[in-house]
Amino acid sequence: MRLLALETSCDETAAAVVRDDFSVESSVIASQAAAHAQFGGVVPELAARMHLERIPSVVAEAVEGLGGLSGTLDGVAVARGPGLVGCLAVGVTYAQSLAAGLGLPVVGVNHMSGHVLAARIEDPGLEPPFVALVVSGGHTDLIHYQAHDRVALMGATRDDAVGEAFDKVARMLGLPYPGGPAIDRLAEEGDPSRYRLPRPVLPDFAFSFSGLKTAVLYLVRDLGELGHQQVADMAASFRLAAVETLCTQLEAAVEQTGSTQVVLAGGVASNQLLRRLARQRLAGVAEVTIPAPELCTDNAAMIGAAAWTKVSRDGFDTEPFGVEPGLRAYV
Ligand code: KG4
Ligand code: ZN
Repeated sequence: MRLLALETSCDETAAAVVRDDFSVESSVIASQAAAHAQFGGVVPELAARMHLERIPSVVAEAVEGLGGLSGTLDGVAVARGPGLVGCLAVGVTYAQSLAAGLGLPVVGVNHMSGHVLAARIEDPGLEPPFVALVVSGGHTDLIHYQAHDRVALMGATRDDAVGEAFDKVARMLGLPYPGGPAIDRLAEEGDPSRYRLPRPVLPDFAFSFSGLKTAVLYLVRDLGELGHQQVADMAASFRLAAVETLCTQLEAAVEQTGSTQVVLAGGVASNQLLRRLARQRLAGVAEVTIPAPELCTDNAAMIGAAAWTKVSRDGFDTEPFGVEPGLRAYV
């Protein structure tokens, strides 16, 4: 069995063909990053219009290897929220129209569950319970994924999401949008001990990144014009402070739950240091599953993985559904 999965919640137009054994037959991602870079962030109306323009060709490329659409697919999956309303509407409308035209069932999934369940592409045998650290441009959540229909939020950020902090600090350092990958790359050649930055550890597994961000802002302001090595050292110092903060709370959550499985998910989980440090710190305590870097940032294969997880339990959707920009839960 295979389905076509679509993802349009933010600024990547993506389509994938995913089998029910979680193998990915194709995954196409058309990033709009270059178009939004000049504005320093995602412009919702522009993003929606670009999804509309690009989705037919992205889908065509994803299904190219199938040799036609009829008789080759068993359903269509789409991210219905959370995300930008106009962007989600493009994907949901397209998925429903395509499914109706082909006489296929459709399933709407939670974009955040997609991030978490991308781990099943890495390890199809992965079953709850596990602890997941979900780190993206909009979320910094520590969750206890007890069962597919029982997910407890253990802690979240009180201010900026960690990906947002990466993006803002990158801007302070004059690095291009999106800032996370730029900081990650540059940090590899920097000295992380050069600048001392705060690592706030809050009670209740909560996070706060505004103090760290402000500390960088003051340093950059006081230092004046920064040379290349100083920027690299600042990137490395910031990355280490952010990643150590994440790992400290993750370790505490693993200890409290007694969990032996951990999942890292979301765009920031493609961060090289976070991948190394989380594995290092949890070695011998928990098995750490992290999707391949290209499956951590927004993609449609993860929507396929979440869809098969949902369909195998509850079947396809039987009622028509709309977009849910503010969808919160992971189930
Ligand atoms: O999950 P995602 O692709 O989109 C959302 O649903 O938000 O996450 C995007 C976020 C951005 O803030 C981006 O800067 C960050 O993930 N990001 C990274 C890295 N790659 C992407 N942050 C740190 N290191 C990276 N390598
Ligand atoms: Zn996302």
